[in-house]
Amino acid sequence: LPSLRVAVLGAGTVGGEVLRLISQQGGELAHRIGGRLDVVGVAVRDLDRDRGEHVPAALLTEDAAALVREADLVIEVMGGIEPARTLLLDAMAHGASVITANKALLAQDGAALYEAADTHGVDLYFEAAVAGAIPLVRPVRESLAGDRIQRVLGIVNGTTNYILDAMTRSGASFEDALATAKELGYAEADPTADVEGHDAAAKASILASLAFHSRVRLTDVHCEGITHVSSHDIAAAARMGRTIKLLSIVERIEEENGERISARVYPALIPDHHPLAAVAEAYNAVFIEADAAGSLMFYGQGAGGSPTASAILGDVVSAARARVHGGIGPRESRYAELESIPLDEL
Ligand code: NDP
Ligand code: HSE
Repeated sequence: LPSLRVAVLGAGTVGGEVLRLISQQGGELAHRIGGRLDVVGVAVRDLDRDRGEHVPAALLTEDAAALVREADLVIEVMGGIEPARTLLLDAMAHGASVITANKALLAQDGAALYEAADTHGVDLYFEAAVAGAIPLVRPVRESLAGDRIQRVLGIVNGTTNYILDAMTRSGASFEDALATAKELGYAEADPTADVEGHDAAAKASILASLAFHSRVRLTDVHCEGITHVSSHDIAAAARMGRTIKLLSIVERIEEENGERISARVYPALIPDHHPLAAVAEAYNAVFIEADAAGSLMFYGQGAGGSPTASAILGDVVSAARARVHGGIGPRESRYAELESIPLDEL
């Protein structure tokens, strides 16, 4: 079987699990792909930290820039805007296909990444960037590409769902619940992104861009987090038969002159009998409404190393198969079909 040179950028919560899966399932994956995944290097900041048996010290490097230039596939799980952005653009310019979990980068600079993939004829996959293990990007980007999506609505941040659920079910404090969410590997390196709603807003911008074949940026998304939700609010909601959840909604809005996109993230009162009210811990749940398909529901683990690594490995198999057998992955629309509604009009 041919070998594919794989560079992994980051060996933290997600990267560590990606490397475990490649090491434990490499043989099976080689058969599915028709080629071997040969990890040629793992970029980190701290070379001295012991990272366990699946991250051999000999593979660690601080020189991510050199690493991406020798790879066929680059898996980016370092997070942040820079140096991730420059590394991925450079990787594609050198002919590598890219798999990333970096929703912050995609929400800010997705257009530049899509364009680079087009220009250099390589693949860009990002299933793990939205809702952890749940297949959601692929259905919206590919399976429903022939339909007309009206709305995508649901819970897309595991950390805030974990916090709200712990406050609701066991009376935990916000601070204690956040500390546990960090320990369990659900939170971002800077959890402000979770609790202020920015992570959910980044995911909303990615989903809106795919669902409506447009360019919806992070700054187009109305965003309220959960830092102002108190235990009194949660108790008051319970007395009304409601549960507080952080909702992300992207939808087409009919206007006199045509249609535009509305994208928003905010804590909402969900009736206790609604399926979203029952979403516990760091699980996510998303409804998609499309003209021909009707209503679809997606549910599963929305955060954490292993669930996220599952989504990444699915992308790795797709990108690797294309390398071995030829072909090219999904492409984004080249022009924007709809505009988003400016925030001051919402
Ligand atoms: P971690 O903070 O656990 O890991 C980040 C890794 O990247 C670390 O190994 C770190 O090195 C390395 N790294 C960071 N900056 C640099 C740099 N400048 N140069 C070299 N290496 C660097 O993050 P996660 O694994 O939790 O998240 C990674 C990405 O996956 C993020 O984009 C996140 O948004 C996304 N994601 C995370 C999910 C989760 O549940 N955790 C779910 C879905 C997506 P070192 O170890 O030396 O510090
Ligand atoms: N911090 C993110 C969350 C990770 O809690 O949902 C998954 O994207």
